[in-house]
Amino acid sequence: MRTQVGIIGAGPAGLLLARLLHLQGIESVVLETRSREEIEATLRAGVLEQGTVDLLDEAGVGGRMRREGMPHEGVILRFAGRSHRIPLSELTAGRSIMVYAQHEVIRDLVKARIDSGGQLLFGVKDVSLFDLDSRLPKLRFHDAHGAVREITCDYIAGCDGFHGVSRPSIPSRLRKEFVRVYPFGWFGILVEAPPATGELIYAYHERGFALVSTRSPQIQRLYLQCNPNNSVEDWPDSRIWEELHARLAGADGWRLAEGRIFQKGVVAMRSFVVEPMQYERLFLAGDAAHIVPPTGAKGLNLAVADVRMLAQALAAFYRAGRSELLERYSETALRRVWRAEHFSWWMTSMLHRFHDESPFHHRLQLAQLQYLTGSRAAATMLAENYVGLPFDEA
Ligand code: FAD
Ligand code: PHB
Repeated sequence: MRTQVGIIGAGPAGLLLARLLHLQGIESVVLETRSREEIEATLRAGVLEQGTVDLLDEAGVGGRMRREGMPHEGVILRFAGRSHRIPLSELTAGRSIMVYAQHEVIRDLVKARIDSGGQLLFGVKDVSLFDLDSRLPKLRFHDAHGAVREITCDYIAGCDGFHGVSRPSIPSRLRKEFVRVYPFGWFGILVEAPPATGELIYAYHERGFALVSTRSPQIQRLYLQCNPNNSVEDWPDSRIWEELHARLAGADGWRLAEGRIFQKGVVAMRSFVVEPMQYERLFLAGDAAHIVPPTGAKGLNLAVADVRMLAQALAAFYRAGRSELLERYSETALRRVWRAEHFSWWMTSMLHRFHDESPFHHRLQLAQLQYLTGSRAAATMLAENYVGLPFDEA
């Protein structure tokens, strides 16, 4: 089998890359280990930056997001028993975010891929990459029926997430990895209840962080900081509500609406970057190259920024034979990656309790939050990072 770009992974990065390439008349094949049902049901991100929303629109896959997604023009920081609003749009010349679940983005992209007749193979196994340093790199795998298949490509895009095979295919002497693991995780739940708030609430409390997000007028998404080794059994419903009410309590009388909890899970927290994001004819994009803790809501958005850049670089190559953008891909992408790494680390450090933390540290966190919500300059810094820096300035 022959294609122009072999894409490993049907997450947001792989599927959007395939879509952007298709719109430029570039052919690709997408390989995915899981089934369509599984990828369309996996719960992950919820916040789309302005640039992500615009790009999904431009790519012709924004229709349902515009109808069902919830645009937000502000975000709430809650600490010391009070809520403080950061007016995102006012501070960023009208930019905003959209709350629209990642698996809905996946559903829209899978449908667009299938409707356009593009190749998307689910249930593949044992994908391996070889001849990466030749002009025709190859992908070998078992298809869903167990047959061995091989695809010869001009380029390969490694969009297979943090645990994929692409990154380890770069010789270890040529890659440098930067890691930070946090001493806590997030316990995430889905609840049948009406929204308790019109905008997302990021809460800092001595007992730990809590986040109130949403999915629809009937379903709410809540998280609370937990021990990273916790399992679902450690958190019966009564403990979850007790902890959420304690962390979100205040003198202003606001109270979270309870409801039936129908999904629970633990999320690990880590920062990770590999440099460079390219080896010969293999280009990494999204979580395959970098991870951020979810506090800044940047992971999915970074994956989107990577593939936007990669699609532009591949288009310049196929249209005009120009390879400078491909050669500069890693350097250009890493500038935005490190900005998002810093923002995500900073939000995480400011909003969580560290177990070795002294009362001194707690006071510093409160001072930082007070400054952020009291100073227009400081609030603008948070706002422009949260809604996402324009692509060109990254
Ligand atoms: P993935 O989504 O991981 O997709 C990779 C795909 O490759 C998967 O489908 C996988 O099955 C497939 N694959 C793996 N190995 C192979 C292989 N060997 N062969 C073929 N296929 C393979 N980000 C935000 O921007 N905003 C948020 O609000 C946000 N909240 C989050 C909340 C939680 C609880 C979590 C866990 C994450 C959150 N993120 C958020 C991060 C975001 O979900 C990820 O950054 C995003 O999924 C990255 O997309 P990706 O396509 O690079 O990788
Ligand atoms: C979510 O709604 O899942 C969500 C929102 C904001 C974050 C992370 C996750 O920072």
